[in-house]
Amino acid sequence: MRHIISPNDLSIDELNDILSLAGRIYRNPKLYSKLCDGKKLATLFYEPSTRTRLSFESAMINLGGSVLGFSSADSSSASKGESIADTIRIISCYADICAMRHPKEGAPLVASQYSKIPVINAGDGGHNHPTQTLTDLLTIKELKGTLEGLTIGLCGDLKFGRTVHSLINAMVRYPGSNFVLIAPRELKIPTYLKKETLDAKNIPYTETSDLESVLPELDILYMTRVQQERFFNEEDYIRLKDSFILDNSKLKNAKEDMYILHPLPRINEIATEVDDDPRAVYFKQANFGVYVRMALIMTLLGIEEPKQN
Ligand code: CP
Repeated sequence: MRHIISPNDLSIDELNDILSLAGRIYRNPKLYSKLCDGKKLATLFYEPSTRTRLSFESAMINLGGSVLGFSSADSSSASKGESIADTIRIISCYADICAMRHPKEGAPLVASQYSKIPVINAGDGGHNHPTQTLTDLLTIKELKGTLEGLTIGLCGDLKFGRTVHSLINAMVRYPGSNFVLIAPRELKIPTYLKKETLDAKNIPYTETSDLESVLPELDILYMTRVQQERFFNEEDYIRLKDSFILDNSKLKNAKEDMYILHPLPRINEIATEVDDDPRAVYFKQANFGVYVRMALIMTLLGIEEPKQN
């Protein structure tokens, strides 16, 4: 039995296999529509979500399976003080696989230690969000045709942004990745990530707070929201929330084939006028999330792929 707590729980071959399978599902979804008949996915969401929870549910339904779960801690017995360990022991009796989102870093890892079913981390605090990373990788692979040799600009909240942390951890495994880290001083990437992931592997990166000056270099611009829920102090959030606002005038100097990704939800960091730019692919990215989660569910449940005609 496998659990997916971090993107590095998958070997590079397994990661590439999941992306390839997701691509095949994307091109021919009907072929996969009955594979999880009789299987159940539990979504255990202790923190709000639109895309992750509903794309997991959509993925399982697309595979012919069923879903159950809760969408907030308040509507589960966590509100009465039940531990993660006890909750997952119970869910193991009701479902075949589960996706868990929790505000505390490490909660899905704890769940995996007591679980009898595969646990997928659907986002834990500021730590990791491996299925968002699979979504991001599939989007880049399908649209750019490669995951190698890319200059990736990561912009916004690089301190608390779990999607950014997971994406860096995954992209350093592909040759030729080069990062441009764009953040205000207070939201710079954590030192441990620079030391243990970028410096340790001699990955080239630069740090800046000037989005416009680096835009012409980028193959991918990964925008992120400044996350109010991670701040201890309202004043700091208000001061930093509009640090970057991408609009059409800033995009004039960007490459014609640069893609703009965002895990969403967005607040102000991408002006709505950008949505019509063909380089803006964040809604397409959310759609890719369904196919990659279908591929992950199939992989973790050991479901064989039907033969293509
Ligand atoms: N990208 C993402 O995790 O979105 P949700 O918070 O809506 O799940």
